[in-house]
Amino acid sequence: MKILALIGSPRKGGNTDILVDKILEGCNEKGFSSEKLYLYDFSISACNDCRLCKSENYECAIKDDMQQIYFSMVEADIIIFGTPVYWYGPTGQMKLLIDRMRPFIASRKMQGKKAFLVVPSEEGAKACKALLEMFRMSFDYLGMEFIGSILSKAYERGEVWGNKEDLRKAYELGKSL
Ligand SMILES: Cc1cc2nc3c(=O)[nH]c(=O)nc-3n(C[C@H](O)[C@H](O)[C@H](O)COP(=O)(O)O)c2cc1C
Repeated sequence: MKILALIGSPRKGGNTDILVDKILEGCNEKGFSSEKLYLYDFSISACNDCRLCKSENYECAIKDDMQQIYFSMVEADIIIFGTPVYWYGPTGQMKLLIDRMRPFIASRKMQGKKAFLVVPSEEGAKACKALLEMFRMSFDYLGMEFIGSILSKAYERGEVWGNKEDLRKAYELGKSL
């Protein structure tokens, strides 16, 4: 079982990172292999709607850092999408990644993979409605199984350390995957 965590926050050691680490801690105890990628470390160009991914071996024509991320995504059994709420949606870097998932529509390479969401925000769960629905519909479109989410209320860097319940939930989730 391979777990891939995609961190869509620019803050290393921030709330998204902390919650995802708790999940991975649980996973690693079970002996699963995991990989964590900070999306802000990668140069991801915007999808330009060239539509070559609908033919051309169903591959993206843009040869940038996304090629490495595609590889990790295809290898993974479970993908954790971690992003703080930015204006009631995901961060810009996470949205770039989602747009670049277009080749997976034709290739069906995400089919059957499990997806989990980790989302901290200042306002908490009530601020996540639109974001949650966007991910839920996108996972559905790609044939992925949406297995759950952790929506935490946290604002300052590391504030989520004070939320023992969500940290425990994240750890338990990792153990149960
Ligand atoms: C540009 C920007 C927009 C934000 N928009 C929202 C928002 O619409 N609603 C909200 O509750 N929090 C919002 N926040 C707060 C973050 O979601 C919150 O600080 C989160 O804990 C950051 O997670 P991180 O530590 O993983 O980066 C915003 C933060 C930034 C920088």
